[in-house]
Amino acid sequence: MSATPPIITIDGPAGSGKGTIASMVAKKLAWHLLDSGAIYRIAAYAALQNHMDLSDERGLVQLIQGLNMEFSGEQVLCDGEDVSLAIRTPECAEATSKISALPAVRAALLERQRSFHKLPGLVADGRDMGTVVFPDASVKIFLTASPSVRAERRYNQLRQQGISASIGQLEREINIRDERDSNRPVAPLKPATDAWVIDSSYLSPNDVLEQILHRLR
Ligand code: DC
Repeated sequence: MSATPPIITIDGPAGSGKGTIASMVAKKLAWHLLDSGAIYRIAAYAALQNHMDLSDERGLVQLIQGLNMEFSGEQVLCDGEDVSLAIRTPECAEATSKISALPAVRAALLERQRSFHKLPGLVADGRDMGTVVFPDASVKIFLTASPSVRAERRYNQLRQQGISASIGQLEREINIRDERDSNRPVAPLKPATDAWVIDSSYLSPNDVLEQILHRLR
């Protein structure tokens, strides 16, 4: 009998801190990490590079099927090119939000995400990890924070990466993206019915990590 590797899903909106928390939890448990947003971002980056119409579902699926994505620590490669920074720009985030609303694009990326499910376990970070991609996950977390706190976090993150942005503009973009991500007909951003919701507005990453580890114990 082969054991099914355990899965912890961490879903939530942009800037809720789920990327940071997912990577801390994965490191602590020495489990694999899936940053599903990066997978969607790579697809959007490739679409932008190819000057594609971002509503051309069929063309996007064809493009996605031919893409080679590699993940090694913090580094993300698309067809051998290091796109770790390029996929984090506001322009790429905007394009990602658009293509991720397309059902065929989501279906085309499903198996790539599920391929991360390996021993000894997986921490999966995204929007629909607990609802669609890994509905049987052992522990499901939905991490959230207020829009202003999330805009400030994104601002600091971008600054660290040498990308300039305005906090007001980021908050407006976050609100628009939330609206689109929450209201799309396929895999909308919402907590799984069995998810544990954590508001991280006034918690440090270590506080959140402690809460999760406590719960796991
Ligand atoms: O988590 P992130 O900011 O890197 O995600 C970028 C975009 O990708 C965001 O607009 C939502 C979308 N996304 C998605 O639709 N489903 C996922 N599982 C992960 C990200």
